[in-house]
Amino acid sequence: MRVGVVGATGVLARNLIPMLVERGHQVRALARSPEKVLHTARVEAVRHDLLDPAMAAQLPGLLAGCDVVIHAATAIPTDPTAPGGWENNSRLRTEGTRRLLDAALRAGVPQYIQQSIVMAYIDGGDRWLDESTPLDSSPARAGVCAPVIAMEGMVKANDPAQLAWCIVRGGLFVGPGTGQEALIARLRAGQEVVRCDGQNFISPIHVADIAAAFVAVIERNPAGQVFNVVDEPLRQGEYTDRLARLVGAPEPPRDPGQPCPPSYRCTNQAAKTVLRWEPVHGIWPVV
Ligand SMILES: NC(=O)c1ccc[n+]([C@@H]2O[C@H](COP(=O)([O-])OP(=O)(O)OC[C@H]3O[C@@H](n4cnc5c(N)ncnc54)[C@H](OP(=O)(O)O)[C@@H]3O)[C@@H](O)[C@H]2O)c1
Repeated sequence: MRVGVVGATGVLARNLIPMLVERGHQVRALARSPEKVLHTARVEAVRHDLLDPAMAAQLPGLLAGCDVVIHAATAIPTDPTAPGGWENNSRLRTEGTRRLLDAALRAGVPQYIQQSIVMAYIDGGDRWLDESTPLDSSPARAGVCAPVIAMEGMVKANDPAQLAWCIVRGGLFVGPGTGQEALIARLRAGQEVVRCDGQNFISPIHVADIAAAFVAVIERNPAGQVFNVVDEPLRQGEYTDRLARLVGAPEPPRDPGQPCPPSYRCTNQAAKTVLRWEPVHGIWPVV
C-alpha cells in the first residue's frame, strides 16, 4: 500500500515508517523538514506545512495515489504554561484535520487514520475507560479537550463506506525519544514532584507498540472505529517511584497542595480483539 504520513519526523512516525517499509509498503512522508525523514527507496519525502495556507492547495496533489493517510502531526509546546503555547497544537487538530480530510476526499484516498489521545477522556478515577467513555467537554479542560473533541467530530462525520476512517487514541508515549527520557532526567536531578497524592491512573504506551497498532489499522482497515492504544494502566505515583528506582534516582516527593490530575485507567481490549494487536515492549526503559 502507499501510506501518506503527516508528522513524518515525529517520534511516532520515526517508529512507524521503518515498520511500514519492512512490511513492503510505500511511504509518502509529508514534513516541514523532509531532509529529516528516513531515506530509503520506499520512502518519498515531500515538503508540507499543514498550517501554511499558501501550501493548502498542493495537498490533494501530494496525497494523490495514496491508499491511506495518517494525521500524526502535533506541536506540543516546550513550556506548556506559556501564554498561547498550545495554539499551534490546537490548530493542527482543528484546521489541520479539516484540511487533511478535505484533501484526502478530493484526492480519492480511501482510508484515513487520525491520531488522538486518551488524555481527553473525563476523569475516570479508578473506573476502567473504554472507547464509549465521553471525552471531557467541561470548560475547565477546554484548552486541551475541545480541539480533540472537534477533531474527532470532523473525522466521525464521514461515512465510513466513503472514507474508511479510524481514530487511534494513544496513551502517554514512553520509550526512546519520548517524554519518558525527560522525566528520567528530572528524577535523576531530584526535580520531579508528583502532583497531589499520585493516586491518579495513567495509561502509558511504548512508542514502538503504538506504531505496530498503526500497522494493524492500516492492514486490517477497521472502518468507522475508535481504539484505545495503551499498555496496562498504573497509578502515577507507582510509575514515577518504580522508574526512579530503575534509574537509581530517589523516589519523588508528593505535593498535596497541587490539584489532583485527571485519572485515565484505559482498557485496550477493543484493539486487542479487533486489531489482533497487543503491546510487547512494556513501559520500562532498559537500564
Ligand atoms: N507524545 C505523547 O505522549 C502522545 C500521546 C498520545 C498521542 N499522541 C499523539 O501522537 C501523534 C504524534 O505525536 P509525537 O509524539 O510523534 O509528536 P512529535 O514527536 O512531537 O512530532 C510531531 C510531528 O508533527 C510535525 N508538525 C508540527 N507542526 C506541523 C505542521 N504545521 N505541519 C506539518 N507537520 C507538523 C512535526 O514536524 P517538525 O519536525 O517539522 O516539527 C513532527 O513531525 C500526535 O497526534 C500526538 O497528539 C502523543
